[in-house]
Amino acid sequence: MDYPVLDYQGSFLEEDSTLIRFALEKNKKAKGSGEITQLLTSLCTAVKIISCVVRKAGIIQLYGIAQPTNTMNEHVKKLDVFSNELIINTLRSSFATCVLVSKENTSAIIIEPEKRGKYVVCFDPLDGISNTDCLGPIGSIFAIYRRTSTGEPSQDDALQPGRNIVSSGYALYGSATVIVIATDSGVNCFMLDPDIGEFILVNKNIQIRSRGNIYSINEGYTKDYEPAVLEYLHEKKFPQDNTAPYTARYVGSMVADVHRTLVYGGIFLYLANEMCPHGELRLIYECNPMAFIIERAGGLATTGKESVLDIVPTEIHQKIPLILGSPEDVKEFLKIYKKHAEK
Ligand code: AHM
Repeated sequence: MDYPVLDYQGSFLEEDSTLIRFALEKNKKAKGSGEITQLLTSLCTAVKIISCVVRKAGIIQLYGIAQPTNTMNEHVKKLDVFSNELIINTLRSSFATCVLVSKENTSAIIIEPEKRGKYVVCFDPLDGISNTDCLGPIGSIFAIYRRTSTGEPSQDDALQPGRNIVSSGYALYGSATVIVIATDSGVNCFMLDPDIGEFILVNKNIQIRSRGNIYSINEGYTKDYEPAVLEYLHEKKFPQDNTAPYTARYVGSMVADVHRTLVYGGIFLYLANEMCPHGELRLIYECNPMAFIIERAGGLATTGKESVLDIVPTEIHQKIPLILGSPEDVKEFLKIYKKHAEK
């Protein structure tokens, strides 16, 4: 069998063939100051280190809990602490940010004046952490905003609707490490080539399928779901029009579930349940970045009542219900949801 060999010579002729070149090109076209390139370069470095550490975590004793609970009453794992400190430090030293919001910090981090730039970055350093000990896929998520206020930066600078996002993305530490980045001009996927330590463009201008055949939800919470959700799921299992039933897939790691939805199409839902009346996912560093990516790829992201990107956040760790994916799938869900709301 012939194995394909990456043609470095050929693939490097394209201007945007690596993530850094892509950022440089965007900056040149936008006649920017270069800060976004500095920021993305720093994030790239952090992702490479996290990718490396995640793959060695079992050997270097980085599995397990670092602190019993954080301020949100969640267990904090060693990998969480490591990834969080790393991303904060790399963003701080990028000279491109002024306010950082992390899932792991109760309050926003205000960057010291001599290191400040114009961007606000909201991130989840390591999403899906409950999957680490069984070697499941995990990821990092980020959203970049331009600061809109003047004067001393504050936490309020992060309370911007997702429509204001300049760029968002995620890194998926799966069987390969990829970074998916969305800007107004589209969604691109870069895969880490571990031999040369570069993120290589592998999928340009990604478009989500108009309809998929996968639904992704934690069905363990079925007893808490609204009748509209139960009707939708029933329809996916027993289609009335005699089409094939949908397949169920749920990793329990949002980055992996959203990446699969982006690549294969379908629908991902995280809804209210008994323990989480607003769902489990956080608006500004989990839902907004994913909603921005999915919308730029031609999909939809909603709470059932409104578009995710239209929500004006009221606090940095706000949770919302999330439904996202292929436009036809999300529209079908919304039709059933609306019918029940009108009853
Ligand atoms: P975690 O990072 O603490 O694991 O929590 C976030 C994760 C999301 O990635 C995922 O979509 C969701 O929580 C899974 O929750 P559940 O186990 O309730 O289905």
